[in-house]
Amino acid sequence: MTDRSLPLLGAPLRDLFLLQSGATFLNHGSFGAVPAPVRQAQEAWRVRVETQPDVFFRETAWTALRETADRIGRFAGAEGGGLVFVPNVTEAVATVLDAMRFGPGDEIVLFDVAYAAVKRAVDVTCARTGAQIRPMATGLRMTPAAYAEALRAKLSAKTRLVLLDHIVSPTAQLVPIEALIPIAREAGARVFVDGAHAIGQLRLDITRLGADWYASNAHKWLFAPRGCCVLYTAPEVRAQTHPVVVSHYYEDPYPRRFDYVGTRDVTPYLAAAAAADFVDGIGLDAMTGHRAALLAAADQALGRLGATPVIPRAPALAAWALPQSRPAEPEDGPALMKALWREAQVQIAASATHGRLLLRLSLQVYNDTGDIDRCATALGRLGWPGR
Ligand SMILES: Cc1ncc(COP(=O)(O)O)c(C=O)c1O
Repeated sequence: MTDRSLPLLGAPLRDLFLLQSGATFLNHGSFGAVPAPVRQAQEAWRVRVETQPDVFFRETAWTALRETADRIGRFAGAEGGGLVFVPNVTEAVATVLDAMRFGPGDEIVLFDVAYAAVKRAVDVTCARTGAQIRPMATGLRMTPAAYAEALRAKLSAKTRLVLLDHIVSPTAQLVPIEALIPIAREAGARVFVDGAHAIGQLRLDITRLGADWYASNAHKWLFAPRGCCVLYTAPEVRAQTHPVVVSHYYEDPYPRRFDYVGTRDVTPYLAAAAAADFVDGIGLDAMTGHRAALLAAADQALGRLGATPVIPRAPALAAWALPQSRPAEPEDGPALMKALWREAQVQIAASATHGRLLLRLSLQVYNDTGDIDRCATALGRLGWPGR
């Protein structure tokens, strides 16, 4: 249901955020931004904690966390009993790697463009257990068939876990996981989906995807406070899935064992319900329509600079390869980000991926075409490394 008290999409909505005035923010995907109604909901929870900490931690939080899981479950197509909260996808990945109990010879398959911290976690797990990492080769223009081929090329009888990004971080590619999950499952592997950028950007039906685990950062596209990730665990792997930190309830059944992991701030988790209300209040379809118009505007403006889109595309996170007179170097991405912010107060993301300099934009409900114009004008004026 649309909440008519919310401002219109674009610049008017920007007033709900604390983002620095006069600057252009086109990188919501990295760290999110929290609108006023969600900040207020979190503050209300903080007041309840401060008013009676004992009652909050011994009683209120237990019930409230389950109610919030039910709310997020309704939003994302999963039963609340299958959902737990962890601070971020990084911890969700650690949880799953721990649950797998790898040994020598086991193989873990993931994309060559998987998020760097996720790759690092897998590398460390391999070094500790003797498992082997098997990266799938991808490119900047992928088709569903090319993804399936890349996966099949790495699956073997030893594959125990396949990690699939739903939306790839550096390339913003929307991966056809609906087709890839069954391929991995048929090969006898467990599947973890890194949906860091999914909830609030894509319409999710998590249970129907058929993955063993699915994690999504609510603090990105759902607008929850930072430190809020939802982790879905399929029934058959719940018994083996524990928090990475051992606390009182470690041996309790899933999901209860995740609902108290030492004294910690659970207000980002509880404010996720207000975040889902915020998205529903505007309407995910209305958000998607607004973001699609911005994407079309960005294609036009960046196309004039010779940039070419990376595909397949996600609805609101998009990347373009910038033309260079030499192969991209690792420092090109950070250098471009810094220059655009320092010289033009335009915040974007950029990386050197597959030998190309990629510009990544987040097209968010508080952006309008003026933001796209400012970004393209600044790029045209300042250029980029190796232009
Ligand atoms: C695809 C992907 N996976 C994992 C992460 C890690 O998220 P966090 O830093 O919240 O743990 C990110 C963050 O941007 C990401 O883009």
